Amino acid sequence: MPAADLDQYCAQNQERFVAELIEALRIPSISADPAYAAEVRRNAEHFRGAALDAGFAEAQLLETEGHPAVYAECIVDPSLPTALIYGHHDVQPVDPLDEWLSPPFEAEVRDGNLYGRGAVDDKGQVWMQLKAMEAHARARGKPPLNLKLIVEGEEESGSVNFEALIQREQERFKADVLVVSDTGIVAPELPSLSTGLRGLAGVEVRVQGPAMDLHSGVFGGAVANPIGALAEILASLHDPETGRITVPGFYDDVREPNDEERALFARVPFDEDEFKREAGGIPATAGEHGWSVMERRWARPTLEFNGIWGGYSGPGSKTIIPASASAKITCRLVPDQDPDDIARKVAAAVMAAAPEGVTVQAAPKAGGRPVVTSTDHPAVLAAARAMAHVFGKEPLFTREGGSIPPVEMFSRIMGMPAVMVGTGLPDDRIHSPNEKFSLDMYAKGVRTIAHLWDELASAL
Ligand code: BES
Ligand code: ZN
Repeated sequence: MPAADLDQYCAQNQERFVAELIEALRIPSISADPAYAAEVRRNAEHFRGAALDAGFAEAQLLETEGHPAVYAECIVDPSLPTALIYGHHDVQPVDPLDEWLSPPFEAEVRDGNLYGRGAVDDKGQVWMQLKAMEAHARARGKPPLNLKLIVEGEEESGSVNFEALIQREQERFKADVLVVSDTGIVAPELPSLSTGLRGLAGVEVRVQGPAMDLHSGVFGGAVANPIGALAEILASLHDPETGRITVPGFYDDVREPNDEERALFARVPFDEDEFKREAGGIPATAGEHGWSVMERRWARPTLEFNGIWGGYSGPGSKTIIPASASAKITCRLVPDQDPDDIARKVAAAVMAAAPEGVTVQAAPKAGGRPVVTSTDHPAVLAAARAMAHVFGKEPLFTREGGSIPPVEMFSRIMGMPAVMVGTGLPDDRIHSPNEKFSLDMYAKGVRTIAHLWDELASAL
């Protein structure tokens, strides 16, 4: 039951929707860096104001042990179904800064795209939700169902305080369905709904050699080099022949995708050259043998090195054996892997690979659990109809390689089913310099969500 009034309201106001998003992108809400804590809070206040402007009746900050979340609600009639919208208002760090073509917090439109940190992940997509609410409020006076909105302030740094918030606020968050737009579609002409997210487990490794940097001529040849030791340890964690992870027990709890899921993945068109282009012009794909690129990203676990440091990397040369070397490792997890279990296993494998002559520490970090959602829940079918109306095509079912731990938390703690209706694109460069949001995808996203409220109201 596509409604023309909503499409019309959105079309007439799209320019302002963009201007407002540009304003929201000015606040550097980097949750990972404690130096930006006040900006994350200022950003939360900005989103609180925007929720009220959009038509939510009540909006407030919910405090956590970390950065504040924003909560808003519009209860039109307790007998109607209720949707809880989840998003996040924090963003990733922006380095390397000199690779941005325009400053990350002074968003700029170029060639139909809005460039800035948080443009699509996730400020732009939360703004889609707010503007869809506004469309209903202004075009019709109220939305067709009860809406609750929770916008987290530390998703990009692992949602470490979010589980406690859900536990505490279960009554407030009560809803029939969780609606998330922090995900993407396959391509502009290939709309899709995500039905799974990978989990995350992390380990930080530190290799300590001599108490201080040593002259590499005076001591070299007789002292173990921490960088060499670290490289040896890290290299041992994959089998170069098969691309598999060598950590003992790593695959023990992996649930393989069933035939139906593999068939759904196989329906998604895949162009290897296009993928290599989106991945920044890599010469070849990599990964675990025996699985397609799609399966490797959506349904198989990984172990990645996110950062490595040690020794001298300034101009010219400095002939030393460095005192220490470090690396950050994270694994993407699939059902039914457990983040704590995997972090422990990886740490143990690191320790076991430590060569003589250095001291190794491997510290497990907090992670998040993977989740797979339903493809046949009425809310998912409602989302498919809303998407089909806006994109003119039935959406495919996909999974995401990325992680949004709160989706699993809502499912596990509150039994809430989730629909993931994001409109990001694979080449949006999330977490990278020159993150962008296609303005066409932004506009279609607002309309999709606006229609979703109608569809959910009649489906639930
Ligand atoms: N929006 C992403 C997750 C995502 C990425 C969904 C790509 C769909 C496609 C989210 O903000 C994110 O980046 N999450 C982190 C979570 C982590 C810090 C626990 C991630 O995946 O690295
Ligand atoms: Zn995100």
